[in-house]
Amino acid sequence: MSFYQKHVFVCTNRRDPQNPKGSCAQNGADEICQIFKKELADRGLRGMMRANSSGCLDQCAHGPTVVVYPEGIWYSIRTPDDAKEVIEEHLINGRPVERLTIKARK
Ligand code: FES
Repeated sequence: MSFYQKHVFVCTNRRDPQNPKGSCAQNGADEICQIFKKELADRGLRGMMRANSSGCLDQCAHGPTVVVYPEGIWYSIRTPDDAKEVIEEHLINGRPVERLTIKARK
């Protein structure tokens, strides 16, 4: 059972700037997370859809990394416009945004 129609996790993990792995926070994840939260609130979707910040999702090279459940679709969200496109197309219209997805390694 799922409590939400869509549940979005946005990695906002921050590492030391010297760390060679980098981190989503260094690539603007805090802003991306706020966009998801604000857009869902502005559209009156609180209670139906939720966006949470998360720790490292182990896809650091693609960050800011976002995963949307229940589908389990992973995204590399580099810009505010990318975030807004995922909200409009995937969350609202049910059409995942293929060009922004992270492909699983087999
Ligand atoms: S720091 Fe975001 S996925 Fe690892």
